Amino acid sequence: SYAAAGMLAPMAENITVAPMLELCLKSRWLYPEWTRKLEALSGNDPGYLPCGILAPVLERGDGEKSVRESQEKIWLDRDNIAFYQPGLGKSIIGGWWYPEDGQVDNRCLMRSLLQTARSLEIEIQEGVTVKALQQKQGKIDRIITSAGEIAADKYVLATGSWSSQLLPIPVRPVKGQMLCLRMPHQPHEPYPLQRVLFGDNIYLVPRQDGRLIVGATVEEVGWTPHNTPVGIQNLLSKAITLYPGVANWQIEQFWWGFRPGTPDELPILGNSPCENLYLATGHYRNGILLAPVTATLLADLILEGKSDPLLAHFSWQRFSHPTDKKMTFFNNSVSNDNGHKISLQVNETAKFSRSIVDSKNEDTLTIAGRSFNSRLMTGTGKYPSIAAMEQSIIASGCEIVTVAVRRVQTKAKGHEGLAEAIDWSK
Ligand code: GLY
Repeated sequence: SYAAAGMLAPMAENITVAPMLELCLKSRWLYPEWTRKLEALSGNDPGYLPCGILAPVLERGDGEKSVRESQEKIWLDRDNIAFYQPGLGKSIIGGWWYPEDGQVDNRCLMRSLLQTARSLEIEIQEGVTVKALQQKQGKIDRIITSAGEIAADKYVLATGSWSSQLLPIPVRPVKGQMLCLRMPHQPHEPYPLQRVLFGDNIYLVPRQDGRLIVGATVEEVGWTPHNTPVGIQNLLSKAITLYPGVANWQIEQFWWGFRPGTPDELPILGNSPCENLYLATGHYRNGILLAPVTATLLADLILEGKSDPLLAHFSWQRFSHPTDKKMTFFNNSVSNDNGHKISLQVNETAKFSRSIVDSKNEDTLTIAGRSFNSRLMTGTGKYPSIAAMEQSIIASGCEIVTVAVRRVQTKAKGHEGLAEAIDWSK
């Protein structure tokens, strides 16, 4: 959180995976109200600024202008971009303007969050290392820390790049080096660089207090710490190409951090292999952006048992591999429309085991012009809970799920959460 640049930039980051874009946009839209609330509770300005982001394009003939514009993405030609931000490099032919992206000063945000938590009498223990999660019968019994043991009803693993030291989930450190310059300033004049500039492997984020955050390298070097001459040289030369004026500005600070990367670069959110442990990790380049939506979805899940359909896309189970192709749920089998047998089994405790539908790949079901190669047909009655039903549906990995229900009353006992447990995008 300290190392980030605080860009709220789903558009500039060019996030294209549909559920991830939806998650990021949801979170970006939560920012105004969330930061207002934090400021009111803490008395500290979290430094949120819906300033838009400018992505200058270098002269490379990559046909940028032919890409379609939208409300979220507007092309500015050389004259327009120079008017909006004077002083850009000569090689810039124009650029994209993302009016709905923005920034937050992540260090101010952290101060504000800590202050808010304290004002709500939430106990925070800093400098404590969690050494192990002690498990008993599929649950976390307690955590073993450098400051003794701590027991709770429910736990959230939100340990970023360090997550795989506690659980076998594929989160790895991806190093980013950054630096901060001080913008020159004449009294009664605006700072020279006013816009967030998002370039090719470089970004410049001007803060309202005159600092200019420059980031960031993306390095697969494990836990190797420190800033390096080559990393900083790389950032500075790209920064100077984008905005030559920075060449003589004062360097104020260097630092580095570790992004929590996952194999598909998507976060890991929601339930875990342990009943009372929840996951909020693997946010990779978007931790600050995704903070409010992560908190909201996790709180709904933990406190209300409500699982937002979006969570299904970020389950840890996408990385768990089946070992037995004929593994089945329940001790039942049913036939699908095409007469293929779907074997279903749940072992007593394995709410999270993965099922494989025994169907032939060449056998395609087409509904409303969409083709499906796997389908799970299930009822609702025998699942011990809605969460178990949801987990087994996710675990099946099926492209389409048909759920047989009797009469559903959304407010009746035992029916709550049924509609939310289904991924309606499938
Ligand atoms: N969000 C930008 C980065 O991770 O460098």
